[in-house]
Amino acid sequence: MGGRFTDRVALVTGGGSGIGRNTARALAAEGATVVVAGRDKDALAETGGIPVVADVTVEADVVGLLDTIAGRFGRLDVAVNNAGVFGGGMPLAELPTAEWDRLVATNLTGVYLSMKHEIGLMRATGGTIVNVASNIGAHGRRPGLGAYAATKAAVSALTRNTALEYIRDGIRINAVSPGPADTAMSLRPGETPEDRADRLASALPIGRVGSLDEITGAILWLASAESGFTVGHDLVIDGGATA
Ligand SMILES: NC(=O)c1ccc[n+]([C@@H]2O[C@H](COP(=O)([O-])OP(=O)(O)OC[C@H]3O[C@@H](n4cnc5c(N)ncnc54)[C@H](OP(=O)(O)O)[C@@H]3O)[C@@H](O)[C@H]2O)c1
Repeated sequence: MGGRFTDRVALVTGGGSGIGRNTARALAAEGATVVVAGRDKDALAETGGIPVVADVTVEADVVGLLDTIAGRFGRLDVAVNNAGVFGGGMPLAELPTAEWDRLVATNLTGVYLSMKHEIGLMRATGGTIVNVASNIGAHGRRPGLGAYAATKAAVSALTRNTALEYIRDGIRINAVSPGPADTAMSLRPGETPEDRADRLASALPIGRVGSLDEITGAILWLASAESGFTVGHDLVIDGGATA
């Protein structure tokens, strides 16, 4: 098996479904040994690769995940911090504090903890990190989704600043900000993929949802040597929604 990631060790968080699963499989198809992390053991096993059950909101789990990678491979070349949850859907004063906490813990603290411990291992050999933010974050306006948007905007800011801290250590950090992609997360409650297609046909300039490969392709480019001069960037992939 050949490709841009031959002999590379990669980690994908939230690798048991959607964008994470597709990214893990694409990295493997290009030669990487891929560790997939998430909370659902069966979902991770279905993805393939090396499954490690870990909750990114729990620092001991993240430390255990990176210890497993260090023990098995002694290095980490690529990390895709993709684990995330969607939520909110109501104005700020109505939002339960527990929902705020869940979004912040997963989408922001989870990326902080993941990067913190990935960098520790990557420092030995260098590597690339791609964080999965959202076009709603730094770039969008979506009343009712303020909490989700705030966590994702924070991921963009954390990416930019952390990238500057570690680029001289050979660790290159970037983010992607997808728009509505073809996963369960972009379905509204009770909505079918056909309903979603109708909704997005008029709502998005491109007139359709983004395919998994269109999101994954951007992640792999940022993770690969092809993007070697790109540092601290937040690549928006949203069919023109925030253009
Ligand atoms: N789909 C879209 O339209 C879209 C648009 C913009 C951004 N995004 C972002 O893209 C990323 C992937 O989303 P997706 O669309 O592929 O949705 P998804 O299928 O729901 O994937 C999210 C993954 O994150 C994992 N996860 C959630 N909480 C976790 C935790 N505490 N610890 C470890 N893993 C956790 C989930 O697995 P478990 O629950 O089994 O742990 C799941 O596999 C997310 O960060 C999302 O915000 C998606």
